[in-house]
Amino acid sequence: MGRGRWHAERRADPWYRMAKDEGYPSRAAYKLIHVQKKYDLIHRGDTVVDLGAAPGGMSMVAARLVGSDGRVVSVDTEPLTFSMSNVVYLELDLFSSSVVDLILEALGGRKCDVLISDASPKFSGVKEIDMANQIRLTRRAVEIGDSVLMDGGSALLKAFECEEVKCVETALKRGFRFYRRVIPPPTLRRHSSELYLLCVGKRVSEVSLMVEENG
Ligand SMILES: C[S@@+](CC[C@H](N)C(=O)[O-])C[C@H]1O[C@@H](n2cnc3c(N)ncnc32)[C@H](O)[C@@H]1O
Repeated sequence: MGRGRWHAERRADPWYRMAKDEGYPSRAAYKLIHVQKKYDLIHRGDTVVDLGAAPGGMSMVAARLVGSDGRVVSVDTEPLTFSMSNVVYLELDLFSSSVVDLILEALGGRKCDVLISDASPKFSGVKEIDMANQIRLTRRAVEIGDSVLMDGGSALLKAFECEEVKCVETALKRGFRFYRRVIPPPTLRRHSSELYLLCVGKRVSEVSLMVEENG
């Protein structure tokens, strides 16, 4: 899609306009609001790690839900466009070798209750390349979750519909007590087969190893 059409579509998008009117950094805020209403993912006092957090719609929603006793650790190479006292921003590439240690340090040594990953690549327009890059990010989020998400914790991970996502799903179904695909309303299915993997109740510490086993 050309830049001009992209801007025109964005302006016409009711979620984009609503986010602007209501002061959210992005329309992605409504995806988390939808999941929260339906599945009660985040609680007061929780610690949340948000991977691929910029500009920060989901982080803002999470920060409001956890309140002043909770904490949100937001990771992205790009900056957040807001600040709140219970949000710690880490300017980091998810593939950097120090990412797990730095997240754990920001969490104060305790693992998090909830892991969100809305990380997605810059789109090339070539479907195969975009899918491969997205699944690489989804797998990386699962790998980071192995180290930073506590036993019993929950996760919401962005993915694309493709053959490879089924391997990830097989592992998540074994690694968590409850697993479901969700497609929150603001998701743009016209341009992609984007979906979210909702996982509740982590019961295995190394879910990513099971992804490898499944291919
Ligand atoms: C769809 S946006 C996330 C929107 C965000 N959840 C919100 O609520 O505003 C995807 C984000 O993933 C980030 N991202 C992609 N690859 C990344 C990587 N390797 N390391 C860190 N962030 C990455 C991008 O910089 C971008 O900000």
